Amino acid sequence: MTANTDLETIERDLLARVGAANDEATLEALRVEALGKQGSISALMKNLGSMSPEERKEFGPKLNGLKDRVTEAIVVKKATLAEAALDAQLKAEAVDVTLPPVKPRSGTIHPVSQVMEELAQIFGEMGFSVEEGPDIETDFNNFTALNFPPKHPARETHDTFFMDAKDERGERKVLRTHTSPVQVRTMLKQKPPIRMICMGRTFRKDSDATHTPMFHQIEGLVIDETSTMADLKSVLIAAIKAYFEVDDVKLRFRPHHFPFTEPSAEVDVGCDRSGGQIKIGAGDDWLEILGSGMVHPNVLANCGIDPEKYQGYAFGMGIDRLAMLKYGMNDLRAFFDADTRWLKHYGFSPYLLPGLAQGVG
Ligand code: PHE
Repeated sequence: MTANTDLETIERDLLARVGAANDEATLEALRVEALGKQGSISALMKNLGSMSPEERKEFGPKLNGLKDRVTEAIVVKKATLAEAALDAQLKAEAVDVTLPPVKPRSGTIHPVSQVMEELAQIFGEMGFSVEEGPDIETDFNNFTALNFPPKHPARETHDTFFMDAKDERGERKVLRTHTSPVQVRTMLKQKPPIRMICMGRTFRKDSDATHTPMFHQIEGLVIDETSTMADLKSVLIAAIKAYFEVDDVKLRFRPHHFPFTEPSAEVDVGCDRSGGQIKIGAGDDWLEILGSGMVHPNVLANCGIDPEKYQGYAFGMGIDRLAMLKYGMNDLRAFFDADTRWLKHYGFSPYLLPGLAQGVG
């Protein structure tokens, strides 16, 4: 029968073309041509309607069989092509793991960044969040709100860099002389309880082996209804022990004066200087490392916090000095020379981030 011969020819032709299709686009075009709405097999299907019942009985199943076989061949071919494409991609992107590693990068983490990371870990574990503030501050945030009397010479004792630019109060802007203005910023935008640290650059007109005009501080502030000087002590002792990784570290709280804390204490750490180098933990000597105290009621009031209801403590430490003490550098100025030999010697691997579990440094 001609119709049968035709079907066989059509099937042979289509299957041969499916077999020859080398990419998914060709295969898809073929599918549309044969099985799509306007496709050749679909056209034959439509013809069934005009056939006699006998013809239809014989022709129908054959046509359906043809349709099924062509459909299946296309599906199988499609999967084969997809697999081949993936194989080709994997081959093209293959990495030869037997090759020697790429030369390690020579960049290192600066000790100041490393120490900041260590401190963030230590205070983070104690529930402190991290706040930030700008290097260029208003006189209000750097001094007035912190209970420095207006126009008081204390502003000069910080060896302040004053700027020509004025703030909205008409006062000279300053390069912040400490991180304490971030206390002010935090209290102005956040209600107690507050438990934060802030780390960053600070500036004073000073330069010798242990002073650079730009240096780094960490500030801590806790404001709630109950925190006391005892809490300040215990937090600082825990932090210093964790930082220096020594258990028998001694701290001495010495009365002092800051306008923004009352009472205030400077804190010395026990050390040994007998070998020419400072060793933290052992020995009979003392080294001053930080300033601290209970936040002055005037500061709370200046920042919109009710001093009758809230109280708390603050502390400030030099980060660069902490780095020098732990990692044994003796000239601070080298920190900021950008000498790659120094960085190579004192820098840290970017792959070894500090964590309390594996040690902070
Ligand atoms: N801001 C002080 C300084 O730079 C340190 C300090 C911070 C003291 C917080 C008390 C409380 O010297």
